[in-house]
Amino acid sequence: MLKTLESLGDLRGQRVIVRSDLNVPLDGTTITDDGRIRAAVPTISTLLEQGARVIVISHLGRPKGAPEEKYSLRPVVARLGELLGREVAFATDTVGESARSTVESLGDGEVALLENLRFNPGETSKDEAERREFAQKLAAFGDAFVSDGFGVVHRKQASVYDLAQLLPSAAGSLVVNEVESLRKVTDEPERPFVVILGGAKIADKLGVIENLLDKADRLLIGGGMAFTFHKAQGGEIGTSLLDEERVPTVREYLERAEANGVEIVLPVDSVVAKEFSADAESTVVEADKIPADQEGLDIGPKTVELFREKLADAHTVFWNGPMGVFEFERFAAGTKAVAEALAESEAFTVIGGGDSAAAIRTLGLDESRYSHISTGGGASLELIEGKELPGIAILEEDTK
Ligand code: 3PG
Repeated sequence: MLKTLESLGDLRGQRVIVRSDLNVPLDGTTITDDGRIRAAVPTISTLLEQGARVIVISHLGRPKGAPEEKYSLRPVVARLGELLGREVAFATDTVGESARSTVESLGDGEVALLENLRFNPGETSKDEAERREFAQKLAAFGDAFVSDGFGVVHRKQASVYDLAQLLPSAAGSLVVNEVESLRKVTDEPERPFVVILGGAKIADKLGVIENLLDKADRLLIGGGMAFTFHKAQGGEIGTSLLDEERVPTVREYLERAEANGVEIVLPVDSVVAKEFSADAESTVVEADKIPADQEGLDIGPKTVELFREKLADAHTVFWNGPMGVFEFERFAAGTKAVAEALAESEAFTVIGGGDSAAAIRTLGLDESRYSHISTGGGASLELIEGKELPGIAILEEDTK
């Protein structure tokens, strides 16, 4: 059981450090998808309503332990303030003079955001002592710690793992919801349990396939990773994405699935083009007979129908990874159709984060029609893989 906010008692006047994941995509200083900021709001609002002094901390991108303007959290402050309906103070450093004076000037029910944690080498250091030293400096700003950045709980980093050991700590509502929804999928799925996997890289999904081959009733495979499956079955895939090295592993998965009575459903047709570009001339061909000079960039209409049928009786669905290059309108139809089928479904539908969550939003679909859309990319996959995540383990009741 995760420790929840209630375990921290009365927080009025207390300085509460909240680790959020405000790692949003930026185009210059424009936020292109504010999903993670919106997801961070409920916990921060609850604490502010209780009269806490809230210090929000986060990373953005992957700077290398030193300040870099393009990774500044400054563009996030205004959006966070709009969504919270109040002003958010901003500290231009992490544990320096600006952070100290910003935290000191907070009154009850006021909130501040510190600059990108990864501007300090201690945040991601593999050296325990260096990480601990940075965590101690952060801990000095607070009386309690709330871990609410689900997207980062798979990282053993100072603000995720070490800080939770230095202050009375609890999971925020986002982390609690994420863990409950994702565990519902892996631990006791209502059957039929259908998993849809896509995306370009099969290597990122091996752990998930591995864990779900014993649990799912059906596995629908689309996106770039499907071509390695076609290849493993002797199909012609033209110049489509292929992970040659993984062909034997995939063959083994196909055999195991058959032995376990798990149905693996591959695309039957594919939208192909000669080049990878937004306005490439495209045609539809059979998915395992792609001409030598063409590559598959989306699932075709027959596959959409097939996947719809295979989803019709599902009671639980987990989806991770787009069905095609949805960023290009011409190759977005497959991803959109799968997203629509899930929106209409009566099943418990969980969308693993990363690209599939971004697809739901950029394609203009109504997020409220899904049971749960994860804010985590790697974190949700690792949870589905059945791994122990450091940032979750440290928040379990009996760990402290
Ligand atoms: C993510 O985008 O998945 C999280 O914010 C974690 O970021 P990271 O992969 O750079 O640790």
